[in-house]
Amino acid sequence: PVPVILDCDPGHDDAFNILLAAAHPAVDLLAVTTVAGNQTLEKTTLNARRVCAVAGIRGVPIAAGRDRPLHGAARVAENIHGGSGLDGPGFGEGEPDVPQDPRGALGLIRDTLLAHPAPVTLVPTGPLTNIAAFLLAYPELIRRIERIVLMGGSAGRGNTTPAAEFNILCDPEAADIVFASGLPITMFGLNATHQVRATPDVVARIAALGTPLGELCVELLTYFAGSYREVYGFDAPPLHDPLTVAHLIDPSVISLVRAPVTVELTGTYTRGMTVVDLDGVTGRPANVDVGMEVDVPAFWDLIVEAVRVLGSR
Ligand code: BDR
Ligand code: CA
Repeated sequence: PVPVILDCDPGHDDAFNILLAAAHPAVDLLAVTTVAGNQTLEKTTLNARRVCAVAGIRGVPIAAGRDRPLHGAARVAENIHGGSGLDGPGFGEGEPDVPQDPRGALGLIRDTLLAHPAPVTLVPTGPLTNIAAFLLAYPELIRRIERIVLMGGSAGRGNTTPAAEFNILCDPEAADIVFASGLPITMFGLNATHQVRATPDVVARIAALGTPLGELCVELLTYFAGSYREVYGFDAPPLHDPLTVAHLIDPSVISLVRAPVTVELTGTYTRGMTVVDLDGVTGRPANVDVGMEVDVPAFWDLIVEAVRVLGSR
């Protein structure tokens, strides 16, 4: 299996990515680290613990990382993910019975890379603050990173501004550090993730599992659908983040094109844009494998199966 560290900001779609990574035998989920993004760090960390608790994911350490971008102020996506960052299901008031690792995200990533015999794949699905901070803090450990497979950016339009996608816009300087790091990068941006929409037939398949976890997933998707209807007028919500782990499980789920990608830091209207040179007109070296066409039924089969497996344990 592929050894993986998930760095996330749950977040409805991040939650499904945790489930997919924990459920599938092709992935060895070594650690989960959290970052401020969809909600504050406190909330995204609590949400990661809640998701692991309800799904029976035990023994995977969860640590909190950065609570703001490298520069400037944090932004949240309350309009999409709600006041808790994971609105919809009732998780109950009490503390989830999955602990928070005291080492913090950077310490947990460091220890995980040092402890694992082979290089580890980093899978960021939130702002890239923790990952950039790690690369700056531990340059000697970069060779222990196999590759970075992330959700962020777009080879087309943005979603938080016309040009910029949320994760990249939250921390463009961090994204720039990651994209320019020289590490192998695979990027699933909105041009890919908008193909995987949780349509009513998908939701019905998950409901038909008839498990408490399935029910909770339906509640997540129902809330997410309401947000996307209201904010973007979408008929069904795109489940962005799990394209990353789906790719690790089965690369045939999404086609890739290698291209030069840079992050706009200074544009008046385009800060946070990923500039994807699909035609090679810049002459820059190609540094990113960019996700393009998704095998949508294959993707949903993986998601439904993950919810089934975890729900029947
Ligand atoms: C990204 O932003 C977040 O709201 C989602 O979790 C996803 O990672 C999509 O732009
Ligand atoms: Ca996310």
